[in-house]
Amino acid sequence: MIELAIVGYGKMGKMIESLASAEKFHISGVYDVINPPETHLKEKADVAIEFSAPSEVLKNVEFLASKGINVVCGTTGWYDKASEVEAIIKRYNTGFIYASNFSVGVNLFFQMVKDAAAIMNRFSEYNVLVTETHHTQKLDKPSGTGIRTAEYLIENLESKKSYVSDAERAAANEINIISHRIENVVGVHEVKFESEADSITLTHSAKSRRGFAEGALLAAEFIHTKKGFYKFEDVFGNIK
Ligand SMILES: NC(=O)c1ccc[n+]([C@@H]2O[C@H](COP(=O)([O-])OP(=O)(O)OC[C@H]3O[C@@H](n4cnc5c(N)ncnc54)[C@H](O)[C@@H]3O)[C@@H](O)[C@H]2O)c1
Repeated sequence: MIELAIVGYGKMGKMIESLASAEKFHISGVYDVINPPETHLKEKADVAIEFSAPSEVLKNVEFLASKGINVVCGTTGWYDKASEVEAIIKRYNTGFIYASNFSVGVNLFFQMVKDAAAIMNRFSEYNVLVTETHHTQKLDKPSGTGIRTAEYLIENLESKKSYVSDAERAAANEINIISHRIENVVGVHEVKFESEADSITLTHSAKSRRGFAEGALLAAEFIHTKKGFYKFEDVFGNIK
């Protein structure tokens, strides 16, 4: 049985609680902004699933790691601090796994984007654009998944070197990520290859938060006995 702490009891925390199988997980504690782990942790946990806010990640990870608790981090928008988080995990010798998007479907989409980019290298008449659409409460912009999508394109398209966000005009070697915020949209990501003649679009559209929560629980099973710093790709690559 895996002792699981839920850190951040919002839309994602609640979904994780409802999907955690009673055969595999025992929920040892649920923590939120009014009872955060650093002041309210009572029960020991093997692993914490952390879906809070970008500003809270460093503090939460440091505290949880200091208690020997491994962390699955789903919060987005903190990736400029990734090296600090990695140093914390090393210092306390615990386990950590993160993803801008824990859904298996988005990881399939990433694979298709990489393969499409490799093909499009031969067709210089096509430019590429990334768009992401989310609900209006989302704090970070562009989305972590939008940025990851652009990074995969840059790794695989010889003509692209960097990305810009909501630019009126992007340079030839830049990818523009356009963000839309619309009430009640769980998350839509699109890669559009466009020429004078036509356009080709790859789209991932989340129907609910269920896919994110299922992936985070899969990551919790993966990390609960491990040490080290991992990405969800390490789990996804091993799905048979
Ligand atoms: N990686 C993924 O697959 C994925 C999927 C969906 C959402 N997200 C990200 O997860 C995060 C949370 O999303 P959400 O939709 O659940 O947001 P939400 O606003 O519904 O919930 C966030 C919760 O965190 C709590 N919180 C704030 N500070 C805290 C602290 N210090 N300790 C504990 N809890 C604290 C808030 O009170 C709130 O209940 C966002 O960054 C979002 O972008 C990631």
